[in-house]
Amino acid sequence: MKRPSEDVILAMEDVKVHFDMDEGLLKAVDGVDFVIKKGRTLGIVGESGCGKSVTTNAIFKILPKYGLISGNIWLYEKDGKELEEPINIAELNPTGDVIRSIRGGNISMIFQEPMKAFSPVHTIGNQIMETIMLHVEPDKKKAREICVEALRAVGISNPEQRVDEYPHQLSGGMRQRAMIAMALASKPSILIADEPTTALDVTIQAQVLDLINNLKHENNTSVIFITHDLGVIAEMSDDVAVMYLGKIVESCDVDTLFYNPQHPYTRALLKSIPTADKQHKGRFESIRGTVPYAMNLPVQCGFCDRCDEAIKGVCDKGYPPNVEIEPGHFVRCFKFADKGTEGK
Ligand SMILES: Nc1ncnc2c1ncn2[C@@H]1O[C@H](COP(=O)(O)OP(=O)(O)OP(=O)(O)O)[C@@H](O)[C@H]1O
Ligand SMILES: [Mg+2]
Repeated sequence: MKRPSEDVILAMEDVKVHFDMDEGLLKAVDGVDFVIKKGRTLGIVGESGCGKSVTTNAIFKILPKYGLISGNIWLYEKDGKELEEPINIAELNPTGDVIRSIRGGNISMIFQEPMKAFSPVHTIGNQIMETIMLHVEPDKKKAREICVEALRAVGISNPEQRVDEYPHQLSGGMRQRAMIAMALASKPSILIADEPTTALDVTIQAQVLDLINNLKHENNTSVIFITHDLGVIAEMSDDVAVMYLGKIVESCDVDTLFYNPQHPYTRALLKSIPTADKQHKGRFESIRGTVPYAMNLPVQCGFCDRCDEAIKGVCDKGYPPNVEIEPGHFVRCFKFADKGTEGK
C-alpha cells in the first residue's frame, strides 16, 4: 500500500472487527477508514457502544480471540524512520515480536480502564522505567528520574515514594494518572487516549490535556483522542470522526464539525451538549432512543430509527454511501447520496 502522503503515519482501510459470539456475529466495527497525520489530533466521538474503543484496540492489536479483524491498518513509520514496506498491523500476530516492538514506543495507549495497563506483580516504577529504558533512556538511574518527574507531572504527590508501590496500593485515580505518565514518558509517535480523563477531577483533567498537547507539539506526536465530551473535542482536536454503530458517519476538520455539521447524528450530538443547569455531565441524553446492539441488524442506515429526517423506503433499505461533500468533509447519509464524490 503506497503511502498517501508524507505526513500520514497510519492509515485504516475498511477495518472491521466482528465478534463471533454464541448468539451471532456482533459487528462492533464495520468498515472504518481514516488516516492519522503527524503532529495532529484526531478526535473520535460518539455515544457509548459505537465502537470507539474496539477501533483503537484493533490498532494496538488487543482484541479477544473471538474478535475477527479484517481490512488493513498500515503503519508507515517506525522509530521515526519511514518503513520500506509499511507494516499491516491488522495481519500481525497479536503476541509476536513486531507488535510488541510497536506497543509502548511507537504507539502508546492510555486505556479507558487503568488496570489493563499494569501488571499487578511489578511496581509501577519498574513498569514505567522498563518502557522508558526501551524507548527513551537506557540508563537505569536516569530512567528512574524521568519516571519520577513523569509521575509528578500528572499530579501524583510524593512520586519518589509512589514509584516503588504496586498498582493495588494506588487509588483508582492515581493508577489512571500513573498510566498516563507511562504512556507519555515513552514519547510515542502515536498516542491513543481512550477517555483519558473521565475518572479524574477537573484540575487534573486540565493538566493532563495540557501534557498531551505539550507532547504533541514538542515531539510531533499524533494523537487519537476518544471522548464523549464535545467540549474536549473542540479543545483538543484538529480533525474529528463521528462514530455511530461501528461506522464513521461524518469526518472533517474540527471547525467544520462545529460550524457546518451535516449528518443528522452529528447535529443531534451537538444539540445535546450538556449545559451547566441540566447537569448532564457529558452524556448525550437528549437524542431519542438508544444505539442499537450491533448484532443481527437489518441492512439499513444505523441511525435511521432515531433520525427525524429519515426518508422512508430509502434510509431503511440499504447502507448510505460515504460522500465527500466538500474537500475533506465526508458524510455517510442518504441526504447527500448524490451531492458529492463517493469516498471510502
Ligand atoms: N470483548 C468484547 N466482547 C464482546 N463484545 C464486545 C467486546 N468489547 C466490546 N464489545 C461490544 O462492541 C461494541 C463496541 O464497543 P466499544 O467498547 O468499542 O464501544 P465504545 O464506543 O468505546 O463505548 P464507550 O463510550 O462506552 O466506551 C459494543 O456493542 C460492545 O458491547
Ligand atoms: Mg470505549
